[in-house]
Amino acid sequence: MITESQIHELFESAKLASRNSHSPYSRFAVGAAVLTPDGRIYLGTNVENASYGLTICAERVAICSAVTAGAKNIVAIAVSAKNASVTPCGACRQFIAEFGNDVEVVYSRGGQVVCEPISVLLPSFFSRRELGI
Ligand code: THU
Repeated sequence: MITESQIHELFESAKLASRNSHSPYSRFAVGAAVLTPDGRIYLGTNVENASYGLTICAERVAICSAVTAGAKNIVAIAVSAKNASVTPCGACRQFIAEFGNDVEVVYSRGGQVVCEPISVLLPSFFSRRELGI
């Protein structure tokens, strides 16, 4: 379970991370923050490229940052865009689901910060179950 204050802190962390966005093409700055069971927070921001398809979303950068630090147990991930509501894109939903169907996703919807498990945002996702693992 994630508390209201953790939701708030995670969302604010994501907002802060968006300040470092490299998004000269879309000018859509996104930040993400991953919470692990020990209370640590790992940040990510979107990094765009002149070869547009190489762009990577903030959520995937944050998850890669956590995994690189040895943190593969993810409790929640928040995503925030400057002056806009944003929910994880389809690719990021699949990326989040890799770490369990109970990962909580914190995002802004219609001006409200909401928190939903990834299984709600991406039902019937492809998983290691399909691979027989
Ligand atoms: N973007 C993210 O970082 N996360 C999302 O969930 C949606 C989209 C980025 C990718 C690109 O740099 C910009 O937002 C516009 O699509």
